[in-house]
Amino acid sequence: MERLPGFRDFYPEPLPQPDAWSANVRTHIFDTWRAVARRYGFQEYDGPPLESLELFTTKSGAEIVGQLYNFTDKGERPIALRPEMTPTLARMIAASERAYKKPIKWFALPQLFRYERQQKGRLREHFQFNADIFGENDVAADAELIALLIDTLRALGLTSDDFVIRLSSRNAWQDFFSTRCLETSKAYDFYQIIDKMEREDPAKSEALLQALGFSLAEVKHFIESAVPTAELQLILDNLKARGLAEFIRIDYNVIRGLAYYTGVVFEAFDCKGEFRAIAGGGRYNNLVKLLSGGKVDLAGLGFGMGDVVLTELLKARKLLPQFGVKLPAYCLVEDETLRPATLGLIQTLRDAGLGADYPLVATKPDKQFKRAQELNAEHVIRLDRQEDHSVVAKVKNLKTRTEVDLPLAEVAGHILSAKTTTQ
Ligand code: HAM
Repeated sequence: MERLPGFRDFYPEPLPQPDAWSANVRTHIFDTWRAVARRYGFQEYDGPPLESLELFTTKSGAEIVGQLYNFTDKGERPIALRPEMTPTLARMIAASERAYKKPIKWFALPQLFRYERQQKGRLREHFQFNADIFGENDVAADAELIALLIDTLRALGLTSDDFVIRLSSRNAWQDFFSTRCLETSKAYDFYQIIDKMEREDPAKSEALLQALGFSLAEVKHFIESAVPTAELQLILDNLKARGLAEFIRIDYNVIRGLAYYTGVVFEAFDCKGEFRAIAGGGRYNNLVKLLSGGKVDLAGLGFGMGDVVLTELLKARKLLPQFGVKLPAYCLVEDETLRPATLGLIQTLRDAGLGADYPLVATKPDKQFKRAQELNAEHVIRLDRQEDHSVVAKVKNLKTRTEVDLPLAEVAGHILSAKTTTQ
């Protein structure tokens, strides 16, 4: 049986193939995401992986709707696996925002599903760090989010030589659009042309733009000018005050594909341009209102950072830690009559917070020792019955090669003190 294309297995080290996905890398990334989000005062939330189809067809936009994993369940409900977290979050906020003081600052690490064409950096499932703020119109909130995005990447060891935040605004594009085209219903069509322009054949972009009354040259000129609008300048100043200005570049190529963005938008990319976007986000001031049928009107903004491109980038820059197994204690059972006493000792070690392992069934001594080495055990422990029938533990430190005889009650303390002296 093969796994589905675009889905991943996560293995512990040693990995079965060099390109296998590591469960330890995933934990390392999740731990960093959580730690930095909490440093910024964000609280964790979660929602269901299955939602009613309508939640995504209302406002995410054509591209993501085309990638939905959707089906009818046994209760005849049209449902979909979540392709992104923002609609779920907006639904949760619309239902319960009154219980929370503003601004609301929440984060989540959902697994998301998109039926995409498989390519480098794009799979059919991925984990995405989402951080969002609700109830704040001031651009100080946009700057705070971008700072969190930068610090998350910095915490993983990336520097301004590795990544850049391309900052833009739909307001800037809205102004550009409305000075030349009065059909406001066409604005989203226009945004989608801009969104695809970097990857599209210029002749095709030109034709699409001309149908809306624009020339490619004037659009390109606007992008190349890269003059920050007043709101973008405030964000730049805010980030400069934190010493984070070097990570930002005004780039009007960025407009974002999702339909719900209303203001400042941004994306994080690697500086060499080798990978797809690391993260993307922006303001969506109308989404909660839309999903609540007009009952709750709360400004929102946030970003999503996927684990796929991030892992590829960290691997390429050699910024992933080495994950090896390490075990404080392996207990050998050479005399089966001492197995109950050994189990008692193992329980004591584990209660003390120490990792301890042992052979589950009677095993030849040399195999037991080999297993201890494979598990990178720091100590090997063997119980020994004395002439007076008392039992002592022979504790051998595999690194220093020294062995001590200890009463069973002293083994945990001995191993704990060995840990603190070697740390
Ligand atoms: P998005 O740009 O669709 O935004 O996704 C954000 C990030 O998720 C991308 O930059 C990329 O790293 C990762 N990603 C997206 N699709 C895939 C895929 N098929 N395979 C691997 N990684 C992928 C959103 O999803 C917005 N909901 C983010 C947001 C939160 N905006 C406001 N709050």
